[in-house]
Amino acid sequence: MEGKKRDNWTSSIGFIFAAAGSAVGLGNIWRFPYLAGANGGGAFILIYLIFVVFIGLSVMIAEFTIGRRSQLSAVGAYKKVNRRFTFAGVIGVLSAFLIMGFYPVVGGWSIAYIIKSFTGLLANEGAIAESFGNFITSPVQPLLWMVVFMFLNLYIVAKGVSSGIEKAGKILMPTLFVLLVLIGIRSVTLPGASEGLKFLFYPDFSKVTGETFLNALGQQFFSLSLGMGCMITYGSYISKQERLPKNAVIITALDTLVALLAGIAIFPALFAFGLQPDQGPGLVFIVVPQIFSEMGAIGPILSAIFFIALTIAALTSSISLLEVVVAYLIDERKFNRTKAVISTGLVMTIMSVLASLSLGAFPNLKVFGVAVFDFFDILTDKIFLAIGGLLIAIFVGWFMNKEDLKDELTNGGSIEFGLFNIWYNLVKYVVPVAIAIVAVLGIIAIEQTSLMIFGLLVILLLAIFSKKL
Ligand code: TRP
Repeated sequence: MEGKKRDNWTSSIGFIFAAAGSAVGLGNIWRFPYLAGANGGGAFILIYLIFVVFIGLSVMIAEFTIGRRSQLSAVGAYKKVNRRFTFAGVIGVLSAFLIMGFYPVVGGWSIAYIIKSFTGLLANEGAIAESFGNFITSPVQPLLWMVVFMFLNLYIVAKGVSSGIEKAGKILMPTLFVLLVLIGIRSVTLPGASEGLKFLFYPDFSKVTGETFLNALGQQFFSLSLGMGCMITYGSYISKQERLPKNAVIITALDTLVALLAGIAIFPALFAFGLQPDQGPGLVFIVVPQIFSEMGAIGPILSAIFFIALTIAALTSSISLLEVVVAYLIDERKFNRTKAVISTGLVMTIMSVLASLSLGAFPNLKVFGVAVFDFFDILTDKIFLAIGGLLIAIFVGWFMNKEDLKDELTNGGSIEFGLFNIWYNLVKYVVPVAIAIVAVLGIIAIEQTSLMIFGLLVILLLAIFSKKL
């Protein structure tokens, strides 16, 4: 009895750590604060939270259900139920590729900041913002760190040694959590911090446009690792005893908590330092070192620990992305693992080089009027993940058998899932309609209309040729 109980508990925690490791990453700590900052703060956060509860959580349960029911990763799972949906899996693989065209750039910044914590970055508080700008726009340095980050990914995925990184994650993710709480406490106790709390929690709807909704929708899919089949793959590994809805709630709650903590760590300090909230991707790399620079001798040590933890959080996310592409090449294209990792890594490295250089060293590296870095980011987060989420909802709501879904979510009728009908109706009607409305509003409001149309065309072409995939 005793032994069995322990076994279950251990595997449950193992799964939650792996899925939370994928979810919690740069999306929460780097991306969420700067998007909230650029989109007016409180109103964005409110919309984000509503989407997490009604869209993200439902889609996560849907992904877990598809995965555990089919015992396959995304492309195979779609193929098995309906060949016409294969393209949805392929869009997912494409998304993973594109995210890995810019994610390693930011992962590289994080590694660089571990070292920079000790080499004088914190010594001159007034120069921290400028130093970040100089760093990311310089031609060589960020590339070297990006390559280091990419190499760690390739090594881990090639060797299949992700258990090591998961162990590191088990120590460092809680560390990150504790540090965020500490930084948050420091941040809200700075003189002038209340302005930042007001910015975070007092919704100012005058700043809300169609684009705000699209940004919030994309961000919650990105942060929860949804909309591309990553959680379908994870779902296929969950044991039959696990309660899928409960696990989805825990992972969603953890991910959201970390994002909110990052906001609380950053904005009060930002206002206390008299900085602007809409300064974009540099936010966490400017504000956090500035907080630590006022802490004297332990500042550099805490700063280094923060960026080590951020790097590990980024790694546990990026290996899940890389693995999606590698698993596809192995399963569907019959690559061996080494060849899959090397070829994928090579392409992603080239993409990341272009993305990094487009931020300053070669400002002419533009596609559809935006820097390559933003092109990859916008294409995935605002189009592919949103449409991917839409397709997952439609697939589950309209193409899978309702009784099968109920069977899977109640573990063959052995447990209760009282909210089954609510979830089912959300996935079948509310989520697809909501995503469609947000997409249309967003396309109207957004500046990069031609880029959005390009993304939709790619999806349309994939759908038309889906039989060949
Ligand atoms: N969720 C991760 C983050 O917040 C990034 C990520 C990992 C992701 N796997 C994903 C995003 C799958 C979308 C889909 O940093």
